Amino acid sequence: MKQIEKTGASWAGRPCFRYEEVDSTNEEAKRLARQGAGHGTLVWAECQTAGKGRRGRTWHSPAGANLYMSLLLRQDLPVEDASMVTLVAALAVQEGLRQVCGLETSIKWPNDLVADGKKLCGILTELIFVEDEERADAQSIEASGVNRPCLVVGIGINLLQKEFPEELADRATSVALAGGRAADQEVLIGEIMNAFETYYECFRAEGDLSGLKDLYEIKLINRNRQVCVLDPKGSYEGTALGIDERGNLLVRTGDGSVKTVGSGEVSVRGLYSYV
Ligand code: BTN
Repeated sequence: MKQIEKTGASWAGRPCFRYEEVDSTNEEAKRLARQGAGHGTLVWAECQTAGKGRRGRTWHSPAGANLYMSLLLRQDLPVEDASMVTLVAALAVQEGLRQVCGLETSIKWPNDLVADGKKLCGILTELIFVEDEERADAQSIEASGVNRPCLVVGIGINLLQKEFPEELADRATSVALAGGRAADQEVLIGEIMNAFETYYECFRAEGDLSGLKDLYEIKLINRNRQVCVLDPKGSYEGTALGIDERGNLLVRTGDGSVKTVGSGEVSVRGLYSYV
C-alpha cells in the first residue's frame, strides 16, 4: 500500500491509499474506517480480487485497465439520506470524465454512467456502523451510542478495457471504446474528488438534492423515456419524468398517475434494452 499525497480536492481523497491488489476497495475502506480512518479517506486499487457490484453481483476488476476506488464519508448524515450520496457521486464522476477524458456521459437512474447506451461506471454505496467513542456525546442520530454510521462510496470506471465477459458484452463499454481520451488515473481521481466535494457540499447545505436536481436531470438518460420498473412487488411500465429532491425517480404510468420510485430494491430498464 502506498500513500498518495495529493488529489485536486481539499478533503475528498485525502489521504489516498493506493494498493496493487485488494479484495474490494469498499471492504478495505471499511477495514480502515474501523481502524479510525477519517472523513475523505480514499482507497484506490490497481485490481480487485472480489470486486462487488450492486445487488450482490460481482464487479469484473481486471488489472491495468480500469479505475477502482472507494471514498469514506464519516460526517454525521441521517441514515435515510445515504442513498442520495450515490446520485451526488454519479454527478461527480460524470464531471471528472468530461473534464479529463473529454467524454460526455449520461446517467441511468440512479447512478450508472452510460455512453452509447452501455454502462461504463457503476457505484456501490454501503453504510456501516463504526465504533467511535470520542463522538458518543454528539447531538446527532448516533448520539445514543458509540456506533456512528459511515458511508463507503465505491466507484468502478471502465477506462481502457476493450473486451468484456460474454454476459456483459452487450451492455458494458469503457472510456476508450466510447471515444474518450486516455486518462492519467491520478488526474481523473483528482477531478472526480474535486467535483464530489462541490456537489456534496451543496447536498449537505440543502439537506437534499434540490440544488443538484436540475443538473442531474440534464444528464438523466431515462428522462422522457419509457422505462420498466423492476419492483419485487410487481414490475410495471411508464414514462420517467425526472427525480424529486430526494433522488426518487418519478414515473408516469398508463393510468396517468405518477409513482415515486426509490432506489432501494427497485431497478429500472429501458423497455427493449439496458437504457
Ligand atoms: C454496480 O453494480 O453498478 C456497482 C459497481 C461498483 C464497483 C466498484 S469498483 C470499486 C468499489 N469496490 C467494489 O468492490 N465495488 C465498487
